[in-house]
Order: sequence, then C-alpha cells, then structure tokens
Amino acid sequence: MNQSVLLTDFIDEYKPKIEQQLASQVKKDVSNDQLAESMSYSLMAGGKRLRPLMSIATLKTLNHDMTEDDLKAISALELLHTYSLIHDDLPAMDNDDLRRGKKTNHVIYGAGLATLAGDGLLTLSFQWLTDNHLDDHKKAQLTYYLSKLAGPSGMVAGQSMDILNENKQLSLDEIKKLHEGKTGALIRYAMISGGILADADQGVIDKLNQFGADYGLAFQIYDDILDVTSSSEELGKPVHQDDVKNTYTNHLGLDKAYSYLEETINHSRQILDELKEENDVDIELLSSFLDYFKIEK
Ligand code: IPE
Ligand code: IPE
Ligand code: MG
Ligand code: MG
Ligand code: MG
Repeated sequence: MNQSVLLTDFIDEYKPKIEQQLASQVKKDVSNDQLAESMSYSLMAGGKRLRPLMSIATLKTLNHDMTEDDLKAISALELLHTYSLIHDDLPAMDNDDLRRGKKTNHVIYGAGLATLAGDGLLTLSFQWLTDNHLDDHKKAQLTYYLSKLAGPSGMVAGQSMDILNENKQLSLDEIKKLHEGKTGALIRYAMISGGILADADQGVIDKLNQFGADYGLAFQIYDDILDVTSSSEELGKPVHQDDVKNTYTNHLGLDKAYSYLEETINHSRQILDELKEENDVDIELLSSFLDYFKIEK
C-alpha cells in the first residue's frame, strides 16, 4: 500500500468526524430500536467512507472551511451508499453473506428488516440534507442532485442493468453505462455536492462532475478486478462472485481490464489538470485519491 502521506493524514483527520456524525445522529433520528440497530449494524460495520471523504477533499480544494452543517449534509451520502450495499447483498440481488468484514444485514436481521433498514437509510439521507442550517438554495440543489444521481436514472438504473443482464453478455459500451450508473453516479454526486457546499461556480462544478465520472468508472473497474485478484479477508466481502456478471474482467480478461483502468485514471488526471489551470486551485489532495488504485500486472 503506497498511499501518500497527504492522503493518510487527510483520512486520519476527517474520517473520525464522519464516524462521529454517523454514530451520534442516527440514534437521535430513528424511533424504532430494532430498526435503529439494524441500520447502525451495517452503517458502523466499517467502510472506507470514500464518498464523504471525497466531498470533504473537494471543500478543502476549494478553500471552504467545513461547518457542522456541511458535515451533516456530506455524511448523508454514506447513509445512502450503505443502503445500496444492504440491498445489493439481499438474496434477491447478489445474495452475499459478508460485507465490511461482518455477516450481511439480512443474515442477522432477516430480509424484511434488512430491506427496511435500507429504506430507512435512504430516506434519512434526504432528512440530513435538509434538516440543517444550510441556505435553502443549497438544500434544494443537493436534494435535486442526490435524487437524480442515486435514483432511477443513476445508481438504481445501473443496479437494474446489472441484475437484469446476469448470464447475458452486454457490449462494452453497455458495460460502461452499467458501471457509470451503479457506481459512477454516487461518486459524481460526492464531487458535485462538495462544489455546491463550497459555492463553486458552474465551470468548476462541471469539472468536478467529470472527475467524479472518471473516478467512479475506475472504482468499479477496480472493484471487478479485486473480485478476481483479492481475498475476502482483505476486502471484507466475498470474492469470485462475479462469474455471471457483466464485468470488464469477464468481458476483456484481466490484462485489458487493467489497461482500461489505467486509461480511465489518466483521463481523470487530465481533468484535474484542467481544473488547476482554469481555476488556479491546488489539486494535490484530489490527485492523491488516485493512490487507491494499485496496478499490478
Ligand atoms: C462497494 O463500495 C460497492 C461498490 C460501489 C463497488 P466501497 O468499496 O466504497 O465499500 P465500503 O463503503 O468501503 O464498504
Ligand atoms: C454494487 O456493485 C454497487 C452498489 C451497491 C450500488 P457490486 O455488487 O459489484 O458491489 P460489491 O462487490 O458487492 O461491493
Ligand atoms: Mg451488485
Ligand atoms: Mg454485490
Ligand atoms: Mg463488486
């Protein structure tokens, strides 16, 4: 793992703030104890917190000091992401029994309560976007983008393409679309929401969106590669589960999947260079998030 000191220090400083927000606020906002337990079980099971960390990195890049209200809105995305994982693991979807190093939600609480824990996390994320002291325009923008990118033209569309095409071979363009939906959309939102919270102008938000799209695509290609090359101990989730799925590794083989990953990462670097040139911002922290991808051919 050759993660830069810059990224390590950043994670050490900000991840505990996200953990604290998630741990303390969910208790206050959920009235049914068993539902709260099931929601918190998956939420607090670990997780890299990549998406909220990318939002905070965007704030820092744009020289915006994060407030408590910003943190609450930013952490909403981790609620929504965790919902997507609980539902993704359900017997009727990927039917997985390990997530974030622990038994999946439905294994512990049953499919009914697991489905509702997901529903609860999804809805609570919109509560957190709006139950704060941010100005109304920001709340409206965040709500619009999250509903659009997480919903039936974003993440849910990608997840639908994924399960509807098991055992069928999609074209490369279709696989790209699937990846952009199921994983790219939420990572785009992480970047866009950082721009909105920092009062960035549209040109900057467009560039952040483009970087998020590349990063999200790379992230899912890499997730597919890890399914082939890594271990469940390392990932905290089962491996070799994607045989019937439309992954780049299944379609192209491992070497070409790595090449496509590299190409996508290089493109994302180009976008960051443009962001720097056009807006005179320091892109080192955002660039350091690319350390996550380790290319070992
Ligand atoms: C897993 O996301 C689902 C994908 C989009 C591939 P992460 O790899 O960010 O999972 P956690 O949050 O760290 O558990
Ligand atoms: C799931 O993709 C992405 C979402 C949850 C939206 P995968 O099915 O590949 O994720 P893992 O591998 O189970 O984490
Ligand atoms: Mg899946
Ligand atoms: Mg899965
Ligand atoms: Mg996967």
